[in-house]
Amino acid sequence: RYEKLWTAAALLLIVGLIATVTYGALGPGVKMVDDSGGTIDAGSLGDTEFGDPGVTQVGEDQYEVHVVARQFLFQPGTAEPIRVPANSEVTFYVTSPDVVHGFELAGTNVNTMVIPGQVTEVTVRFDEPAQYGIVCHEYCGAGHHTMAGQLVVV
Ligand code: CUA
Repeated sequence: RYEKLWTAAALLLIVGLIATVTYGALGPGVKMVDDSGGTIDAGSLGDTEFGDPGVTQVGEDQYEVHVVARQFLFQPGTAEPIRVPANSEVTFYVTSPDVVHGFELAGTNVNTMVIPGQVTEVTVRFDEPAQYGIVCHEYCGAGHHTMAGQLVVV
């Protein structure tokens, strides 16, 4: 008699878990790479905008920045700073080909997770010239503490 109860409880748990995972995948700020619901992996990254990541002007004062976060660098950001002009609205698209990373612009309210195979989208206005540190705030392996970059608003 109790077996049925346990089976029901276990089923409920599983359904709840799937619901949570689905919400996590489709929740605000995180979207799949293509409209068909496909995901990207390290091998196919080059076929997307992330194959040549960087800054693209999309409007008079609007910019898109594609960033690849990988063990243990931001591309662009680490080897060379990301440069955007002041008085601009910048949308960052960030993805990871390996593990979960963080994408934080120190001193702004940009602080988000980067999930492998998915694209994190966040928009921020920059009114003044400034420099911001880019920080990975999710433990991602032995080099996590070295994973950092620079954003320069000119
Ligand atoms: Cu990437 Cu920590």
